[in-house]
Amino acid sequence: MMAGEGIPTTQRASVLGADLTLRMEQRPVPEPGPGEVLVRVRSVGVCGSDIHYFEHGRIADFVVESPLVLGHESSGTVVGLGDGVDDLPMGTTVAMEPGVPCASCEQCRAGRYNLCPDVQFFATPPVDGTFCEYVVLPRAFAHAVPDHVSFDAAALVEPLSVGVWACQKAEVRVGSRVLVTGAGPVGVMAALAARAHGAGQITVSDVNSERLAFAEELGFATVDPRVTSLSDSIMADVLIECSGAASAIDAGIRSVAPAGTVVLVGMSPSTMVELPVGIIQGRELWVTGTFRYAHTYPTAIDLVASGRVNLDALVSRSFPLEEAEQALTYSHQDPAAMKVMVHA
Ligand SMILES: NC(=O)c1ccc[n+]([C@@H]2O[C@H](COP(=O)([O-])OP(=O)(O)OC[C@H]3O[C@@H](n4cnc5c(N)ncnc54)[C@H](O)[C@@H]3O)[C@@H](O)[C@H]2O)c1
Ligand SMILES: [Zn+2]
Ligand SMILES: [Zn+2]
Repeated sequence: MMAGEGIPTTQRASVLGADLTLRMEQRPVPEPGPGEVLVRVRSVGVCGSDIHYFEHGRIADFVVESPLVLGHESSGTVVGLGDGVDDLPMGTTVAMEPGVPCASCEQCRAGRYNLCPDVQFFATPPVDGTFCEYVVLPRAFAHAVPDHVSFDAAALVEPLSVGVWACQKAEVRVGSRVLVTGAGPVGVMAALAARAHGAGQITVSDVNSERLAFAEELGFATVDPRVTSLSDSIMADVLIECSGAASAIDAGIRSVAPAGTVVLVGMSPSTMVELPVGIIQGRELWVTGTFRYAHTYPTAIDLVASGRVNLDALVSRSFPLEEAEQALTYSHQDPAAMKVMVHA
């Protein structure tokens, strides 16, 4: 293994305890094994799932039973190379793909590695995330990013990947009319990805006026369903649902033209949601869900590096690692907050 000069033996990590408070701890700096790289973490985006673990200690069957390091939207600098890694120069900026699949199950072998039942995903119990200074990950999941891309933008390649994957599943193409319900970070990323895919009319809906205003600033048409009925005002070829709200799922589907596509990205708090089946049948709509993404990092990095998607514009505020708890609570205090970053 090759390590850069001055790598310490211990590092600072922000750790979520079983009492759901965050504490700074000293932890050992891991050593990259064969085929792995050591990354000095620089920027980590706060995701809704981090906030959820912090507030509730669980997401579905994933429960915080032992101390957990949060954070999975991350970038950094390569500072160590495990045996056999010879194609990623030290000092390279990388966007870290957070889910490492088993590589041998049926889904992995079919290339659908996001559906691997044994995926190890940063900040999903019991796997630690990146609210820390150093992490190791397999070389294949450390994606090189050109130097002119900021660490924040490199970190946000993760949620952009969610949007890129949704567009790929929806087969958004030149001229597609796209409706995105929910103008949170994921909805905005999906809308930006749709634009980069050549979509024509892109409309974004939300019930938060600040977020609608932000979407409008980015050049998207907006609809507030509290004021205007979606299905009376929009006819789309593609719905990318990014709110998880039952009413948005229903109204969104009713706004899709015959033979159109519905991609359900938003996760609902309840497991059961009613769908307008008659509309789906009568219009022969294609309906699918998405679970994270696969093979999207190179595309998403290219969109950012070429300037077609400006992720820096989505950063509302940054906090140092010691203030990770404030970063997690900040988005509740400011309804206009889009992406909050932690700088390690
Ligand atoms: N499928 C996946 O792999 C995947 C990955 C990441 C996130 N997600 C999910 O995507 C969703 C969006 O993530 P986010 O980080 O942007 O969350 P977010 O909570 O910041 O954004 C959701 C937005 O939906 C809006 N909304 C609520 N009711 C609405 C309605 N009736 N019509 C229109 N908009 C409405 C909210 O005001 C909010 O702005 C979440 O449910 C998240 O769990 C899914
Ligand atoms: Zn996330
Ligand atoms: Zn697998």
